[in-house]
Amino acid sequence: MRTDSPQTIYRKDYTPPSFLVDSVELGFDLDPARTVVASRIQMRHNPASTSRSIELHGEHIELVLVRLNGKVLKPSQYKLTAGMLTIPKAPDEVTLDIETVLAPQDNTSLSGLYVSNHNFFTQCEAEGFRRITFFPDRPDVMAKYTVMLRADKDNYPVLLSNGNLIEEGDLGDGRHYAKWEDPFKKPSYLFALVAARLVCQEERYTLKSGREVLLQVWVEDGNLDKTDYAMQSLKNSIRWDEERFGLELDLDRFMIVAVGDFNMGAMENKGLNIFNTKYVLANARVATDVDYAGIEAVVGHEYFHNWTGNRVTCRDWFQLSLKEGLTVFRDQEFSADMIGTDTGRAVTRIDQVRTLRQAQFPEDAGPMAHPVRPDSFVEINNFYTVTIYEKGAEVVRMYQTLVGRDGFRKGMDLYFERHDGQAVQCDDFRAAMADANGRDFSQFERWYSQAGTPVVTASTRYDAASRTFELTLAQSCPATPGQPKKLPFHIPVTVGLLAADGRDLPLHVDGVVSNGAASVVLELTQASQTFRFTNVTELPVPSLLRDFSAPVVLEYDYTDEELLHLFRHDSDPVNRWEAGQRLAMERLLKLTGAVAAGEHLALDDTFIEAQRALLADDTLDPAFRELALILPSETIIAERMAQVDPQAIHAARQFMRRTIAAALKPELLAQYHANQTPGEYSPDALSAGKRALKNLALSYLLIAPGEQELALAQQQFDGAGNMTDRAAALGALIHSGSPSHAQAALASFYADFENEALVVDKWFAMQAAAPSTDVQAVRQLMTHPAFTLKNPNRARSLIFNFTNGNPSQFHAADGSGYAFWAEQVIALDALNPQVAARLARSMDRWRRYVPALQSHMRDALEKVAGQASLSNDVMEVVSKALA
Ligand code: ARG
Ligand code: ZN
Repeated sequence: MRTDSPQTIYRKDYTPPSFLVDSVELGFDLDPARTVVASRIQMRHNPASTSRSIELHGEHIELVLVRLNGKVLKPSQYKLTAGMLTIPKAPDEVTLDIETVLAPQDNTSLSGLYVSNHNFFTQCEAEGFRRITFFPDRPDVMAKYTVMLRADKDNYPVLLSNGNLIEEGDLGDGRHYAKWEDPFKKPSYLFALVAARLVCQEERYTLKSGREVLLQVWVEDGNLDKTDYAMQSLKNSIRWDEERFGLELDLDRFMIVAVGDFNMGAMENKGLNIFNTKYVLANARVATDVDYAGIEAVVGHEYFHNWTGNRVTCRDWFQLSLKEGLTVFRDQEFSADMIGTDTGRAVTRIDQVRTLRQAQFPEDAGPMAHPVRPDSFVEINNFYTVTIYEKGAEVVRMYQTLVGRDGFRKGMDLYFERHDGQAVQCDDFRAAMADANGRDFSQFERWYSQAGTPVVTASTRYDAASRTFELTLAQSCPATPGQPKKLPFHIPVTVGLLAADGRDLPLHVDGVVSNGAASVVLELTQASQTFRFTNVTELPVPSLLRDFSAPVVLEYDYTDEELLHLFRHDSDPVNRWEAGQRLAMERLLKLTGAVAAGEHLALDDTFIEAQRALLADDTLDPAFRELALILPSETIIAERMAQVDPQAIHAARQFMRRTIAAALKPELLAQYHANQTPGEYSPDALSAGKRALKNLALSYLLIAPGEQELALAQQQFDGAGNMTDRAAALGALIHSGSPSHAQAALASFYADFENEALVVDKWFAMQAAAPSTDVQAVRQLMTHPAFTLKNPNRARSLIFNFTNGNPSQFHAADGSGYAFWAEQVIALDALNPQVAARLARSMDRWRRYVPALQSHMRDALEKVAGQASLSNDVMEVVSKALA
């Protein structure tokens, strides 16, 4: 066990920086083995601080020299500890000259300055800048940057940094230089440089104001045929932010650069966004519809950060959701607006709900649960979570639900009016929303301070004589680490009432402006509250939490008949889908119990007939039908059980899928043929929806395939004109239980795409998640020449897809999956702690499994925790899991 215990950092301990930085000049002499960084920092004392010490963060770099106001400092004049250079008793105005040396080629953490495929890239959020030079590496220190890059011209013909290129030229001896200046003040986490052999697609684009800007997408040679969609998405993002929020691009030049080794999705460095190739490169041959949607969302996300994150940034990292929750909300709205139809919007909303249930609700119920604005952390990189991002986006969405779109825009306008150029807190955003709309959002603060998923329990009473319908909503929230008791949240609950003919009844609610509308937003602020609907002419079926108006668990004792009514008629597509999920979940839970008890399994006709009707209803958007037919995932089912038995869940869900497939075979075949998308590939929502429904049909048809079904899949695999159809056919063959077909298809797929890294990732990922792949097979795949732990995308494709996407094998009874997990966490930690810590999270929910599995899981966790040298990243995750 390591002896130094990692430091916990608390939000309450925030103190303002002792010195502010006005300007930074950076000079880089780039060399993979030995890069020299010279920095000149102009600083002045911060009147808001009582300290006179200059504190500069620095890690994994060698300090060569430090000069203060022209004089070289002797070691006795500063203190150099692990992570910090402190200069005591500094004068008011300071010019610091600092020289450091580092070895980018040895930097496998991919944080700071590193080498990927012989090119230089940086990743500075959250605390990577301190791996480049000594600096007050905190987001509330904002400065103007000038950057000089020097490098070998043949190997690194392209030299990029933030802002504008102001000078470039040759240096002799084969080297050249470029000087960049960023006109905007920024925190160090938004610094970036790229020195590389790359090519770009570029375009001049005219903003609404008439100003012309230069847009570039930089990729490796050979990938220029995969940049169109990223460029199109960038232009769409620029236009959308102008139209929806009145926000204009503030630079003359905006660059996106793709890199194959990247810890996360992408990074919003000012004017120089650096992206995981996964979120840039696409053409019909290599990318699926889901990939295209991901590119649109992430290009939008990083672009929108330019205002929500860069112009207005975070005071400290506890405020991370201030920029991430808000920017996810903005990219979600962007993607929805790009589709443009009501069902299209609902389809994106359903996807968001699925992500929350799949990943955020479990996080909120596990050992790493934290509020949207955490109170403490050990390693900030562990807090780039679904809670900060997706729940944070839900919190922002609730403002819009409460004040309306126009009110939300007013709040945004006031936020920028007050805080442009500042580093602020979540409270400042809340205040802007409240003040712009004359609302009291003090109770709403609890969404930021309290962790855990609230449970809202509804009960109803209809009085035919007085035509009143009473809806009582009660709320509670389970305890989370460090928070045993919770206070009531301010929860918007959007409600409609369905008549027997399926139509919405006009609503009149005592004390609520409703005017006969079809939906009304009720505000639940007490532990329990009753709302009275009047003039209700018949016993209605309540449609509760429409559009998933709050990130809560909604409990109501629906009868099957009521759910079927909602599934057939609800005018709110999200709740229509939700009714189907409830019907399926009830049955899945019962079936899981029956499997565990060794009882006979059966599925009722009512449910099957409802599925049949929906599948065959051609008036409905195919994308919606596909979502409505997907059963809750094994993970989501597990979250509903007190004691999780992954094998029983898997068997139950498979039984249900088999039964549906057998019963609906003619309809599945009909939809398969009806939803073909011949002609040139287009990733638009309608075509993508058709492919999704068709490929869902195919996967059902291949559950217990005959020769005909196998031939159908093989035909699609061989003849596919796009990756969506090809990958779906391959997936169907892998899951068909016909090893000969699967092996042949896998081999030919690999041969066709071995030079496309992102497709090879898919090849590993599909195998990792197949229930036929056991841990031994994963170990075998790790010996494949294309496998490496060093590339995060590759590691995720095989290892993470096994631990998180293949529950019945990962949770093998003998604990072999957990032993494998422990080995990989340890191996990855030596290379890349951030990625290792993500893998460590696969064991979060270990206490909920059946006792036999729990004890194997504890052993594996203890094995990791007992390692002699462990990063803070992994240490935090496993020690919280074991606590
Ligand atoms: N700000 C980036 C985004 O969401 C995420 C970068 C986080 N990187 C990290 N290593 N923690 O757009
Ligand atoms: Zn972000």
